[in-house]
Amino acid sequence: MRQTSLSPDDFIYPLFVTHGKGIKREIPSMPGCYQESVDNAVWSAKEVHSLGIPAVMLFGIPEHKDELGSSAYDDHGVVQNAIREIKETVPELYVITDVCLCEYTSHGHCGIIEKGDLDNDRTIVTLALEAVSHSRAGTDMVAPSDMMDGRVTAIRSALDKEGFGEIPILSYAVKYASAFYGPFREAAKSAPQSGDRHSYQMDPANRYEALKEVALDIEEGADIVMIKPALSCLDIISDVKSTFNVPVAAYNVSGEYSMVKAAAKLGWIDEERVMVEILTSIKRAGADLIVTYFAKEAVKILNG
Ligand code: PBG
Repeated sequence: MRQTSLSPDDFIYPLFVTHGKGIKREIPSMPGCYQESVDNAVWSAKEVHSLGIPAVMLFGIPEHKDELGSSAYDDHGVVQNAIREIKETVPELYVITDVCLCEYTSHGHCGIIEKGDLDNDRTIVTLALEAVSHSRAGTDMVAPSDMMDGRVTAIRSALDKEGFGEIPILSYAVKYASAFYGPFREAAKSAPQSGDRHSYQMDPANRYEALKEVALDIEEGADIVMIKPALSCLDIISDVKSTFNVPVAAYNVSGEYSMVKAAAKLGWIDEERVMVEILTSIKRAGADLIVTYFAKEAVKILNG
């Protein structure tokens, strides 16, 4: 009679790929998660696949950052190399790639800065180049996480024009300006050097705006819409699920993971039970897919 049950194929596991060779560095605020060079990321991808998790989401930590985030669309960049190697070694594993500039810009913002302000329209041109470059390397799906206006249209038309009409777009349609992303910014070395992301990410106090953002992204061609963060947005996941007829993904973000890990380390909570309860609640709210750093541990529990 149980209404909600978790399964390994609900999950997408994030991987942080860095330049170099033989690197596997644990992220201090995210125990059990690593920055890995491509050779090690391939091993992780194999492990993810062998656990029955169908997909990974790749984030890149490039060797060079500049004002324009130009290594984001370098065909031999870290993510592009990782895509090629993973698809060659574990072709059955579905590869999703993060499309954003914050990991590639020297200032750490998700777009191009012009006279102190974020230039939305120049940024979406670069994001489209990045999505095309990932597709050339063999990604299965692109996931723009930048929150610029009009980027789904820009990416969709660039992909179609370059012969990648079959590559779907998982759009971070609802992304709040959240303090829960703190540990990720350490993981991806992407903290903004000045200012914050409030001009392009949403105010957590707003509920209707989420539906507006989703409607726009679907109209622009998004195939799956993502809500982020997950745990503090269960109401939003539920609203989106009941309003729209597209698959809904939720991102159980870094801060949500770190809180559980920290409290468990202190012996204050039962880590396994809290993890399963969080993931079940996200699914119960309406998420069809959950991006989570818990994926591997959760699957081990589900498999007994
Ligand atoms: C890039 C991006 C972020 C996350 C996913 N993609 C960081 C941000 O917007 O600052 C956060 C994921 C997490 O916290 O686990 N724009």
